[in-house]
Amino acid sequence: MLELLRVTKTYGQRSLVRDLDLTVAPGEYVAVMGESGIGKSTLLNMIAGLEPIDAGDIRLDGISVPALDEAGRVTLRRERIGFVFQAFHVLPHLTLAQNVALPLLLAGRPAAEREERARELLAAVGLGDRADGWPRELSGGELQRVAIARALVHRPRLLLADEPTGNLDPETGAAMLDLFESRLRSSGAAALLVTHSHEAARRCDRIVTLTRAGLVRQ
Ligand SMILES: Nc1ncnc2c1ncn2[C@@H]1O[C@H](COP(=O)(O)OP(=O)(O)OP(=O)(O)O)[C@@H](O)[C@H]1O
Ligand SMILES: [Mg+2]
Repeated sequence: MLELLRVTKTYGQRSLVRDLDLTVAPGEYVAVMGESGIGKSTLLNMIAGLEPIDAGDIRLDGISVPALDEAGRVTLRRERIGFVFQAFHVLPHLTLAQNVALPLLLAGRPAAEREERARELLAAVGLGDRADGWPRELSGGELQRVAIARALVHRPRLLLADEPTGNLDPETGAAMLDLFESRLRSSGAAALLVTHSHEAARRCDRIVTLTRAGLVRQ
């Protein structure tokens, strides 16, 4: 369902990835590891069409992401992708329930459904009693869980999660990985999980490591 074909990306003089190939099947979970600054977040951003590529192709459900215009990329993200950003990107002027419901609002879903699903997802990440609270009242790990709820609320085909358990204790982190399994994998959705945790990586079907020489499979 996701295919990267000879993807090449440079920042100025620095070549980040060169001729990178990666294929992810429906329902497959791939852990992406690699040292800080190697290009993991950039890789997720390129797949989501948030960062242009210099050469190659990225296909999601057969759709070429680089070939889309801005409106097409927005639609693709809205309809098919759930993204847990490394820096959360929870919006400060919206309540937690409004933050989680945002993908459904953008998809034009009715208010009652948005409300119900946002509250249900917040409960699933352990924040059911905080739905009407504000981001500024939350700890880092709680914000991370709001970001996870928001990435799952519209039942995406592909989850791109950038260190989704980086701010969580091992038990809560494991519970979030359980949630990905029960909400996504059961419906055939795939995931790329960037992680520094070997514990989290071991739960995936495959581990790939980004290095200066390219992707190494393990
Ligand atoms: N817009 C940009 N312009 C120039 N260089 C950039 C830009 N964005 C990222 N970089 C550089 O590209 C490299 C890869 O960054 P990226 O954020 O993808 O790393 P990462 O593997 O996610 O690291 P970490 O594990 O620390 O999150 C870094 O050296 C970074 O400084
Ligand atoms: Mg990163």
